[in-house]
Amino acid sequence: MKKTLALLLAAIMMLALVACGGGDKPADSAPADTNQPADSAPADTNVPEAPAEGGTIGVCIYQFTDAFMTTYRNALQEILEGKGYKVSTVDGANDQAKQNEQINTFITQGVDALIINPVMTSAADQIIATVKAAGIPTVLINREPTADQMAVYDKLVYVGCDARQSGTMQGELILDTPNKGDINGDGKVSYIMVQGDPENVDAQYRTEFSVKALVDAGMEVEELNLTRGDWMRERGQEIVANDLAQFGDQVEVVFCNNDDMAIGALQSIQAAGRKVNEDIYLVGVDALDAALNEVQAGNMTGTVLNDAVGQATAAVEEMENLLGGATYAANSQSVYVDYVKVTPDNVQDFMG
Ligand code: GAL
Repeated sequence: MKKTLALLLAAIMMLALVACGGGDKPADSAPADTNQPADSAPADTNVPEAPAEGGTIGVCIYQFTDAFMTTYRNALQEILEGKGYKVSTVDGANDQAKQNEQINTFITQGVDALIINPVMTSAADQIIATVKAAGIPTVLINREPTADQMAVYDKLVYVGCDARQSGTMQGELILDTPNKGDINGDGKVSYIMVQGDPENVDAQYRTEFSVKALVDAGMEVEELNLTRGDWMRERGQEIVANDLAQFGDQVEVVFCNNDDMAIGALQSIQAAGRKVNEDIYLVGVDALDAALNEVQAGNMTGTVLNDAVGQATAAVEEMENLLGGATYAANSQSVYVDYVKVTPDNVQDFMG
């Protein structure tokens, strides 16, 4: 009797091993421990925390080499995939014609929704007309069109930040220094401005509002130079090397519209033998990891968190609202995530 029972148990174990072993299943098939046949629909009801079954989402990024948009697109991908969506992310390579084709291809493929970071803000009309004609729910990110441009399509929403806020915070970072940016005590703050792509409101507003914060606080300002660096580190380095060669010790503050250019600027500041927070101030925007390290080390005066994860989360949330049938009234199509000032005092909160 005992022997029969032992044999029976052994037979059951063998069967269980065969069922779980799945040696001939493709590596990417459904997990074998759900007790579902490999080709069945995901067993959502039996698997707690399983991602909801999603649709297919097309994500268009203006340029993959952009440091901040790399963090942002990785966050988007992770959040969307975590929710069970199929995601295809494409690189516009800073070419609007190429991005237009990519949008058309996604439409032909029948994606359920689009998330678009336009190459050119000026192309917004055309992009919006295209997605409207196809009836695709669309979230625009990072490059904000005007409210009037968006008003023509009620299944469209913009998720981003109010760039004026980041500019003001950059000005405040300078006002918070012991001499409010006037290192040589001549009664004025002499600065250079390294601008992003000026076609973009982020560049326009950060340039304007960083200086406005100083002026509003009663400081006299002197712009030694303003040059476009198109958000790129190498351009930041070149521009600041030239400006320091030309203006030398006159330069008290280096405003960079983003961190990648500020990291480039720092290389030139150090190469010129200058010391941040002693004889020159340097601020950026984004809170890239590299910039957080430099703020902590005292090599950048500060930066401003451009919350990639917060914006990606909000973008997916709005996309799901649209997929659920929501529509947006004119003048209520922009959703903003707050910027946060980052200084040596709180930098630790943003690291790791
Ligand atoms: C800004 C960001 C820049 C750059 C730009 C691209 O918000 O600060 O680093 O990524 O977007 O449009």
